[in-house]
Formats: sequence, C-alpha cells, structure tokens
Amino acid sequence: MSAVLVLGGAGYIGSHMVWQLGQFGVRVVVLDDLSSGHADAVPGAELVQGSMANVALLDSLFASHRFDAVMHFASFIQVGESVVDPAKYYANNVANTLLLLDAMRRHRVRQFIFSSTAAVFGEPAYCPIDEAHPLSPINPYGRSKLMIEQVLADYARAYGLRSVSLRYFNAAGAHPDALLGERHEPETHLIPLVLQAVAGKRPHISVFGTDYPTPDGTCIRDYIHVMDLADAHWRALQYLQAGGETTVFNLGNGGGFSVKQVIDTAAQVTGLPVPVQYGTRRAGDPARLVADATQARQVLGWQPQYASLESIVAHAWRFESVTSGGRL
Ligand SMILES: NC(=O)c1ccc[n+]([C@@H]2O[C@H](COP(=O)([O-])OP(=O)(O)OC[C@H]3O[C@@H](n4cnc5c(N)ncnc54)[C@H](O)[C@@H]3O)[C@@H](O)[C@H]2O)c1
Repeated sequence: MSAVLVLGGAGYIGSHMVWQLGQFGVRVVVLDDLSSGHADAVPGAELVQGSMANVALLDSLFASHRFDAVMHFASFIQVGESVVDPAKYYANNVANTLLLLDAMRRHRVRQFIFSSTAAVFGEPAYCPIDEAHPLSPINPYGRSKLMIEQVLADYARAYGLRSVSLRYFNAAGAHPDALLGERHEPETHLIPLVLQAVAGKRPHISVFGTDYPTPDGTCIRDYIHVMDLADAHWRALQYLQAGGETTVFNLGNGGGFSVKQVIDTAAQVTGLPVPVQYGTRRAGDPARLVADATQARQVLGWQPQYASLESIVAHAWRFESVTSGGRL
C-alpha cells in the first residue's frame, strides 16, 4: 500500500485514520472542505482543502497521484438535522459520493472503504445486531448511507470496484496521547457531552428516559474506540489488497454500556461530579443498540484493543483536558 486518498480526513474519525496510516508509512492525501473538520488534525499529511463535489479537483488529484485506495469519511452526520433538511444529506452523502465513485472509475482506482453506520438498521428486530439483520433505516441520514452501500454492491458487479462498508456503532474516545480527539460542532455524542458538562462547558448532561427495559433503566449503546475503528479500516484495506470481495462489517465492542454507566465512569475517571438532568424518553431511541462484530473479528482478524469504557472515557478526558489548556 503506497498511497491512499482520505475523504473527510480532517474530521474526528478520519484524522485518527490518517495518523494510523502515517504510522504505517502510507502516503496520505486528505481531501476535506473543513465544513466540520480541522486543518490542524492532519499534521504531516498533505491536506487539500476542497469538496468532493468539485469534479475538476477530484480529477486533478487522481491524475497527479497513483492512489491504491480511497477511504471515505466525508459526510454530514447529524440524524436530527437530516430529518429537518434531508436534501442537504442526500446531496452530500449520496450525490457527492456518486461523483467520487465516478472519478474513481475514470481513474481506475478500484478499492474503497466506506464509513457506514448502525443507522442503516433502524429499530432493532434483535440484539446484538449482525450483518444479516434487516435494513430498515428510520431517518434520511441512515437511508443516505444504505443507498451508498447498495450502489457499492452494484458497482462491484458492474465495474469491479471492490469495497468494504464499515458500519460503526458509536465512535468514541481519542488518541491515547491526546494528539487528536472529537471536536464536533454542535456536539451530539454522549461521551464528549458528559465530559463537557464535567468541565463546566455545559450546565448539565440531559438523560432522556430512565424507564427503559435495561438493568438501570437508561439506554444501552455500543461505544467503539476510535483507534480500534482505525485499526479495522487498516485491516479492511489489507483485505481488499489481498483480493477480498465487496462486503460489509458491523463494528462495535459487542457489549454495550448504559447512559448511567457512562456517567458513573466519567465521574470515576475525572474524579469530578457530573451534573445530570433526568428527563423523559425521546422519540425514536431504541432501548438497546449493540453490534455483533463476529464477522469483522473472523474475516479481518480484528480485536478491539481499547474495549473498556474506562479507557474510552479516560482518553476522551485527556483530550478534553488538553483542549481546555490543561486547566482541568
Ligand atoms: N461519529 C460516529 O459515531 C459515527 C458513527 C457511525 C458512522 N459515522 C460516519 O463516519 C464518518 C466520519 O464521522 P465523523 O464523526 O468523523 O464526522 P466529522 O464531521 O468529524 O468528519 C467528516 C469530515 O468530512 C468533511 N466533509 C464533509 N463533507 C465533505 C465534502 N463534501 N467534501 C470534503 N469534505 C467533506 C468534514 O469537513 C469533516 O472533516 C461519517 O461518514 C459518519 O457518517 C460516524
């Protein structure tokens, strides 16, 4: 593997991937329009600021580099916003991705890793959720990702463009040395929200519903460390390099942690109180969403290194402390 184009490499998950590729000596070009990414998240990599909607830019990048593969993290990611403004999501997550895939076809780059999501499943029919679970997304964000998975299956058959779609559950944590971390604006993910409440950047963390059929009454989600995600991508690249067929993998720890467990762990890791406001359930929140990642473990030989909630929260806290100028 000599060169990889990383779309959305200046974002949260993409920047950890870029760091990982750098460790393996891979030449990386990041294409990111910085709509939600950060230029300082990709030190050492070549960052091209621009949109994948820019076909001329895509053509010039593919013409001037010999990419072995493309990794695609660039999309809009907010479920709620996708319901209010679906056109925004279909334009970027679907139409722009088709432009990228067209450019790959023109330049004969035929290996593709796609950031998909657990949102392709919709309401769980059973848990843990394996790859055979029915695909029935309940919002435009999830549908936009499923559409691309379906496109990729067709493009494999018709054009020999081989891909791995990785369906992440909840990405969390940060680089263990706090070199990188999560900086979404607005932030919608539980762990950074809890830590920002601890740090006094928010008045409290809101917990929606304490009467779910779970041991402590709060929702259970599968948090997967961002470094373990990067490792799975690296293994997916090796799989494609070795001639692997187009496929999808679910990525999660397989255990799941409740909202209360996250809050308790944050209190324990930080040694500080977590201001919490308890409220009623929110529409559309299933009680439990947990991945069955057996396929990824068996086919890719993937084994999460940072599976404990303590390490996920501790690394996120270290990054939160660094971004607060070490005042925490
Ligand atoms: N964060 C999670 O928990 C999670 C869970 C499941 C799936 N995913 C998927 O993983 C991917 C990365 O998520 P993230 O949390 O790192 O998001 P992010 O917003 O931090 O990163 C996305 C990056 O893509 C860039 N981008 C968006 N549209 C672009 C365009 N048209 N051209 C160029 N760059 C563009 C943004 O500037 C940003 O740097 C997304 O596709 C998301 O749907 C994330």
